[in-house]
Amino acid sequence: MRIFVCGMGVVGRAVCELLASRGPELRSRYGVPLTLAGVSDSRAIVLAGSDSAELDPLAVVAAKQAGKLGTMEGAMPAALPPRELAGRCQTLGIDVFVDCSPTDLKAAAVPTERMLAMLALRIGVVSVNKGPLATAMPALLEAARYNQVQLRFSGTVGGGTPVLATGSTLNRGETVTAIRGIVNGTTNFILWKMATERWAFDVALAEAQKLGYAETDPTADVDGWDAAAKVVILANAVLGIRATVQQVSVTGIRGVTPERIASAAAAGKVVKLIAGASAAGLTVAPQEVDAAGPLNTSGSLNAVEFTLSSGAVVAITGRGAGGVETASAVLRDLIDIGTMR
Ligand code: HSE
Repeated sequence: MRIFVCGMGVVGRAVCELLASRGPELRSRYGVPLTLAGVSDSRAIVLAGSDSAELDPLAVVAAKQAGKLGTMEGAMPAALPPRELAGRCQTLGIDVFVDCSPTDLKAAAVPTERMLAMLALRIGVVSVNKGPLATAMPALLEAARYNQVQLRFSGTVGGGTPVLATGSTLNRGETVTAIRGIVNGTTNFILWKMATERWAFDVALAEAQKLGYAETDPTADVDGWDAAAKVVILANAVLGIRATVQQVSVTGIRGVTPERIASAAAAGKVVKLIAGASAAGLTVAPQEVDAAGPLNTSGSLNAVEFTLSSGAVVAITGRGAGGVETASAVLRDLIDIGTMR
């Protein structure tokens, strides 16, 4: 299976490294050969020389780290319009376009157009960019369905923790009726430090940025928009609610005071940024939850509860961010697509 990796940040580079280190094992275990045939960052696109040629993933990573992606053989400036890029990918026999470009909810039009152009040419899409999904998921799902091509996005919610796969699997036996949980690691880390060590908000945010949890623009985390993007993805993928981020009622954590945290603690509760989705609507807001319950996670850990039609509740917890973790979600998606062919 020939793939194009768009975006050479932490996740894109980790995908290339995993292709190099796990490629042979994945080929023998699942019968899916994964071949890198194109990459891009914000400045350059590098394409394999023909539909049977391939790029060396480790050479790509080394070139990126040396700031020399644009000087590799097959490189060209990144300014190709989406439809032209999709046409080139088709000529090179690329089966799946992997979008690891950074999420920017205010600038999602270009990556959305790029994904639609790929899907229209029946090139599968794996995305860890949340922007196109948060703003145009109904249209993207419809384009994938219409063109009978795969659109996967495991890494957008929960990083390496298979939150979406859990929801989809549960849906096979019963119906998931509601989803509730912590889907943003940065705000969880901040609230946790404020509660357990009395850190000031700004100090905790700076530490979360240092640890690499926060988005490039951390206001997306603290004002709740990253969680809103994720709840939109969960609602569409698991509950079948065709929503976009505009339909989410969003409150971030800037207004959470040390006094609110202390009075929650006195009542056996903790304040968490809770994302919720059900037929009643999509919300993101700080809420008091049981200190002894599954949503009281420490550090940057995510936790999501699925309520089933029987009334049962199933929870999954795990790391929600990180380059290698998110890249592992990309590999899961690629193997899923490869084993369906
Ligand atoms: N900024 C995000 C978080 C990264 O804190 O959860 C993973 O999407």
